[in-house]
Amino acid sequence: VLARRLRLIFGLILFVYVGTHQLNHALGLISLEALETGRLVFLAFWRGPIGTLLLYPALLGHVNLVLWQLYRRRFLRMPRLELFRLVLGLAMPVLLTPHIFATRGANELYGLDDTYALVAGGMFVQHLDSAFVQSLLMLIAWIHGCMGVHWWLSLKPWYPRWRPWLGALALLLPTLSLIGFFHAGREYLRLARDPAWVAATFTPEAEHQMAVMLSWSAIASAVFVATVAAAFGGRWLRDYLNRRRGTIRLRYPPSRMVTVPVGTSVLDASRSAGIPHASLCGGRGRCSTCRVRIGQGLRRLAQPLVDEQRVLRRVAAPPNVRLACQLHPTVDLEVFPLLPAAVSVTESFLRPSYSQGTESEIAILFADIRSFTQLSEHRLPYDVVFMLNQYFASMGEAIQSAGGHLDKFIGDGIMALFGIDGDPRAGCRQALVAAANMASALESLNRTLEHDLAEPLRIGIGIHAGHVIVGEMGYRPAWGLTAIGDAVNTASRLESMTKEFHSQLVVSDDVAVQAGVDLSRFPMHTIQVRGRSSLLAIYALDDARHLSPILESAASART
Ligand code: FES
Repeated sequence: VLARRLRLIFGLILFVYVGTHQLNHALGLISLEALETGRLVFLAFWRGPIGTLLLYPALLGHVNLVLWQLYRRRFLRMPRLELFRLVLGLAMPVLLTPHIFATRGANELYGLDDTYALVAGGMFVQHLDSAFVQSLLMLIAWIHGCMGVHWWLSLKPWYPRWRPWLGALALLLPTLSLIGFFHAGREYLRLARDPAWVAATFTPEAEHQMAVMLSWSAIASAVFVATVAAAFGGRWLRDYLNRRRGTIRLRYPPSRMVTVPVGTSVLDASRSAGIPHASLCGGRGRCSTCRVRIGQGLRRLAQPLVDEQRVLRRVAAPPNVRLACQLHPTVDLEVFPLLPAAVSVTESFLRPSYSQGTESEIAILFADIRSFTQLSEHRLPYDVVFMLNQYFASMGEAIQSAGGHLDKFIGDGIMALFGIDGDPRAGCRQALVAAANMASALESLNRTLEHDLAEPLRIGIGIHAGHVIVGEMGYRPAWGLTAIGDAVNTASRLESMTKEFHSQLVVSDDVAVQAGVDLSRFPMHTIQVRGRSSLLAIYALDDARHLSPILESAASART
């Protein structure tokens, strides 16, 4: 974690350096004098004691930490953008070293005044290819930095609002910088027509000093290449030794088995097997999107470290949830990735703890349009869709205004959950309020569609409460929060029973008791529900709007 933080801090210092260097280049748009004056300001800081103390440790530290993390990665398989950024980062030192040696190095060693005229002018007048290489280097450094800053900031809640502005700035700066640099280059080429200017600018002494420094820079580049090779060689050696230590097996749903060397992170295991796995922070243990629920093997896992615990606490994860990027199991394990691979950071943090799968007591409401098949017969498909959308909008509003969660629309049916945030009593009250709201909304809808319908729409509503499993389930676009369990089946059954009882609402006594309302004025029945061993007491109401005064008096009794 410390390594990651240091890498970020070092990266930010380098990013500011590249940004200010580009600003300096952009002054070339004004004049060569402005460019040189800008250089003096730029160097006053970056060659001063503070700038030097920040810049060079940041440069060495950032590069070495990247190589260290490259060594530590179990697998090199990574998202394409991450790979692209890594390649950019590894290309930089080779391109940058000659420039550093020929400017700062020569300045320190020989006292060479590395003016823009000497360095940039030299590129345009004597080595035009190096003007393009250095421009490319600046772009590479900027893109690499922008990607890193973007990934870092994407975890901040304010970032989405600022992103368009920062993105515009990220494009504007290199554009102005490149234009300024090449504009200055054209000026130098014009000045180079004067032999006196050439002789005064590119003195043999300066040429010699820069040539010596450039030859030394080849050694530094070779050291860098050797360090990269050592990182890859170290990986190979470590993997070889790990393979001798043995392997573990990770089971993914529904029945995928992945075998990896002991100590591989779960995220790396997913990547190595090509299993899509959300990892917005790139495995840095910051975003929580890689979290997995652990099945078998949980007891034999070591406790999460402090940083992992902190992230898990932020998303209120239960004890059987871990961060895949931080978990390096040494035993066989069953893992269930919890978020879809394409989840966003905001979504990830907004997801409540129950979305990860929990057993809780809730109220479930089912509603269905009566005789919908006859209603839709002899109608144009467009009319049916229009009518259904009107109906869903009215019912959805009625449910949500009562505090319910719309689970799904199934054909002309609706399923809604109440009390999923952990208060079953409130959930039962909300479900009854929703039923009353729905009946009122249906009445208004029937008035609106009066001329379009042969007869008014009628609905049946069933409400029951009980222990169910609530969690996000599904696959890709059909992914969402839902509930499964006996209580769900029972609520659905009660909705069907509205036909038998010729009523609009069938609600179980359990719901009435939990909601604290007295429904004894309505007919009570005792029924046998398929799949339940005991009988179930229910109330059948002709019109769910009759609940309104009862709910109101119960509410005023509570207050
Ligand atoms: S990938 Fe971000 S916390 Fe694991």
